Amino acid sequence: MNYSDKVMEHFTNPQNVGEIENASGCGTVGNAVCGDIMRVYLDIDENNVIQDAKFKTFGCGAAIATSSMATVLVKGKTVQEALEVTNKAVMDALDGLPPVKVHCSLLAEEAIHAALWDYAEKNNLVIEGLEKPV
Ligand code: FES
Ligand code: FES
Repeated sequence: MNYSDKVMEHFTNPQNVGEIENASGCGTVGNAVCGDIMRVYLDIDENNVIQDAKFKTFGCGAAIATSSMATVLVKGKTVQEALEVTNKAVMDALDGLPPVKVHCSLLAEEAIHAALWDYAEKNNLVIEGLEKPV
C-alpha cells in the first residue's frame, strides 16, 4: 500500500496522543467492520475556542495518522469552525489516503463530532450543522 510522506510522518510521530482530564467534550467512535476505536478529547474555553485536543486510537496506521491530523487541525478553531474539519479536509491535509483507508478518516471526523456533541450537550449549546452521533 502506498502512503504519502505526511501519513507516514503522522503515523510514526503522532501529535496529541493522550487524554485530557475533565475534558470539555469527549467522543468515542468505532468502526464495526474493522473493529477500530477512536476517542477524542477536547478542551474548549468560554469563547467556544478549542484550546487543546488529544486522542487515543486503537487502530491501524491510517487511523492513527488521521486522528493525529484531525486534532492538529481543530486546535485553535471555534466549535463551529471545527465542523469544517471533515474527513476530506483531514485526507487533503495528509496528501491523500489509499481508497481502502478512507473509512479511517471518517472515524476521525466522527470522533471530533461526537466530542463536540458531548460539549454542546453539557453546555446546552446548539452547534449549527452538527448532527447527533449515532
Ligand atoms: Fe483496522 Fe486493521 S482493519 S487495523
Ligand atoms: Fe479501520 Fe483504519 S482500517 S480504521
